[in-house]
Amino acid sequence: MTQQMNRQMPQQVTAISVLFVCLGNICRSPTAHGVFARLVENSGYSKSILVDSAGTGDWHLDHAPDQRTAQVAASKGYDLSDLRARLVTSADFAQFDYILAMDNANLKDLRAMQPADYQGHLGLFLDFSSQSEYLEVPDPYYGGDEGFELVFGLVEDASAGLLQHIELHRPEVLRF
Ligand code: 4NP
Repeated sequence: MTQQMNRQMPQQVTAISVLFVCLGNICRSPTAHGVFARLVENSGYSKSILVDSAGTGDWHLDHAPDQRTAQVAASKGYDLSDLRARLVTSADFAQFDYILAMDNANLKDLRAMQPADYQGHLGLFLDFSSQSEYLEVPDPYYGGDEGFELVFGLVEDASAGLLQHIELHRPEVLRF
């Protein structure tokens, strides 16, 4: 959430926080986490935008991203090896301005957890995409390699759209 600058606060104030959510937090949301964090860094917004990811299911807690996800990301120059799966919790609604679900099942689970007074944006990540063929990021876990490539392409596209949205709607918080 947006924080007020004052003398007690360190200079590195995070003004906007974004949480990407999928089922296992080992394929789609870590891809979004890595790709969007790189975009934020390359755009000079590292001090203004916090990026994280989480899952609605607990099968892979503390696991690194799926090997197939890591391989596709590595082939595009992204290192996801530091990421570890965690569960989304109701506390995340107190911290994150944007909580972005990869598919409608994730979104339904998140809506069930959403506090009534949540003021942030809870929705589908691909609402920020420039393409209209896919409304959700398809779960690649039980499919072939092409599913992981598809995830990466959709995530890259929606990440650019999300950053443009933030630049347009929240320019004040990017001026640190
Ligand atoms: P993700 O993919 O939600 O994109 O991380 C999945 C990972 C694991 C499982 C399902 C989807 N699973 O059933 O274990």
